[in-house]
Amino acid sequence: FEPVKIAPSILSADFMDLGRDIALIEEAGAGYVHVDVMDGHFVPNLTMGVPVVRQLKKATSLPLDVHLMIDNPLEQVPWFLDAGADSVTVHVEALDEAGLFRAVSDIRGSGARAAVSVKPATPIEAVVPVIGEVDMVLVMSVEPGFSGQSFIEGSDARVARVVELARMAGASPLIQVDGGIGVATAPCVAAAGADVLVCGNAVFAAKDPGAALEAVRTAAEE
Ligand code: DX5
Ligand code: ZN
Repeated sequence: FEPVKIAPSILSADFMDLGRDIALIEEAGAGYVHVDVMDGHFVPNLTMGVPVVRQLKKATSLPLDVHLMIDNPLEQVPWFLDAGADSVTVHVEALDEAGLFRAVSDIRGSGARAAVSVKPATPIEAVVPVIGEVDMVLVMSVEPGFSGQSFIEGSDARVARVVELARMAGASPLIQVDGGIGVATAPCVAAAGADVLVCGNAVFAAKDPGAALEAVRTAAEE
């Protein structure tokens, strides 16, 4: 049994003082740095890309968890790997099945961890073809695109279903949840079997991000 890990999303951090924010979450025992990459096409918002990952790599020893919300991820996956991504997540909605397998094998082939994600409206069973090939499944608990949205009720049931689908496939990927996670929502997703909780606003909109991270982790353990 592994304790739940927190992956703060720097989308909610202070870009003018990103180094300080990274240091705060490092000290507070974050498990990963979650990097939300959005292209303005796959999702409406436009955020950050390869150059940011490359600089983060020099600034922290925490693993960089890169969440790709982009069209044509196959083209960019090698660039993110080269920039130092430790795990790369692709969306099932962005790829056909062959592309999904290709992305996962490219990611793993470089020694990084591969993950697949599903938007809230996508049947969770869409992960089944690759569930035995991935290191992590990311269950979106908001419609991807923006930080600070409310957790979609019932997302914990989707987490529980992934646990069940993985067991049926004889696989044991980590399960990550992303969107609207804070002290109020961490307990239900942790109880459903989530291993990694992404937190944007719950950590970085707080006055004391380190204490906020600790509060979410404590809530998840209860
Ligand atoms: C949503 C992103 C999330 C988001 C999390 O599209 O993938 O990682 O930034 O932010 P909060 O925790 O504020 O919902
Ligand atoms: Zn994310």
